[in-house]
Amino acid sequence: MKRSEIIKIDRENIWHPFTQMKDYENSEHVVITRGKGVKLFDIDNNYYYDTVSSWWTNVFGHGNKHISHNIRSQLNSLEHVIFAGITHPYAAKLVDLMNRFLPSELSKYFFSDNGSTSVEVALKMAFQYWQNLGKTSKTKFIFFENSYHGDTIGAVSVGGIDLYHKLYKPLMFNSHQVKSPICRQCIFRKNRFTLNGDTGCNCECIDEVERLIEDRSEEIAAVIIEPMIQCAAGMNIYNGIFLKKLRDLCTQNDIILIFDEVATGFGRTGKMFAFEHVGIIPDILCLSKGITGGFLPLALTVTTKTIYDAFYDDYFSYKTFFHGHSYTANPIACSAAVGCLENFIKKPIEKYKSGMEKLKDAAIMMSEFDFVSDVRNIGFIAAFDIINPYSGKPFPAKERVGLKIYHESLKNNLILRPLGDTIYWMLPVNIRKIDIEQIYNKTVKSIKNVIEGYSWLRS
Ligand SMILES: Cc1ncc(COP(=O)(O)O)c(C=O)c1O
Repeated sequence: MKRSEIIKIDRENIWHPFTQMKDYENSEHVVITRGKGVKLFDIDNNYYYDTVSSWWTNVFGHGNKHISHNIRSQLNSLEHVIFAGITHPYAAKLVDLMNRFLPSELSKYFFSDNGSTSVEVALKMAFQYWQNLGKTSKTKFIFFENSYHGDTIGAVSVGGIDLYHKLYKPLMFNSHQVKSPICRQCIFRKNRFTLNGDTGCNCECIDEVERLIEDRSEEIAAVIIEPMIQCAAGMNIYNGIFLKKLRDLCTQNDIILIFDEVATGFGRTGKMFAFEHVGIIPDILCLSKGITGGFLPLALTVTTKTIYDAFYDDYFSYKTFFHGHSYTANPIACSAAVGCLENFIKKPIEKYKSGMEKLKDAAIMMSEFDFVSDVRNIGFIAAFDIINPYSGKPFPAKERVGLKIYHESLKNNLILRPLGDTIYWMLPVNIRKIDIEQIYNKTVKSIKNVIEGYSWLRS
């Protein structure tokens, strides 16, 4: 198909996700036809750096040879099979490899096919666990302001971003929202966030959730949190001490702790899983996105034998977990995930230090600009906010500076996807230093070009 035909059909018939389609009245979607490493190529063969790892899914760059080899050979034997009453070697192989990366406490794997469903599974599992045990009052969830766990109604019910979630309130089940540990905007103003992520504080911000848990433990089924970093919130990195305290509170008050590592899993934060930064273990772990290296949709909700055992009974006890999806444990997706894990076995995440260090250097350099504030970095993620260099304050939202930077980035062979006015890079673990340099230079150029358009603000 020609570019013009694709654009015509796209314009007439396609409704893109998280997109105000009117924004494309006078511009067009980029038509991407292939990818290699950290670069994507459009139909006219222009390249773009994929600085957002294609919605945080891509782990080893586009077209990773080992993963695509696994998929190819899987295609020769089985494309799909029902996963109730039947199992297959590809699911078993995947779980066997996962066991090498997860602590032995997390040993029971429930398959689904995207991040939101992995969260739905976790919420229903936590709820039913208490029902199966006869503790029927434990029905509520605690979640954090600015959190994002997906777009299905259960996930939205524990979502804390007003822009995405508020409208759907009448559809949601009641949950308790508490303040997030946003170190860069510390409400105690005790410590400013540092680029190391170490604020040196003792997480006084745990107070609110502590009080809620202690007052209402009888009604709380579970707490759900994105460990170490709230990604969709604008890459809010926070102090891991918060998680340690939360783990203790949940254990002491008989509450399930759910870690949503849909975005952070598979090396993104510099560890295989973000919870490894603090050496604690959740009761339920949600995984997706990077699990297949960014090739195919797949998700896992991993839990403990204790939770699993509460569902294990004679059929007529009606303790079965009645949940499943048509494409549960799709063999081709499993083969991609096996490829991804084999890559990590061949070269563990600790061996990708040089990319992480280079990214940190780029983040430090970024912090020198007067149009940048609150630079933050963890592993292969770096983020900063764009501010008005003349006033030192954020731009008014109506300026849509982030969107302008996105459009400008495309002219500079770069795909940035700002979250509001937060610019971030989320990069594959095997990115080369030279590519990070290019991404840095092109990002600076794109932002400067937009900021120059505001030079009238100087006067
Ligand atoms: C932490 C977290 N949880 C869940 C999801 C939802 O995943 P999906 O878009 O695959 O449904 C996302 C997506 O960005 C996420 O960042």
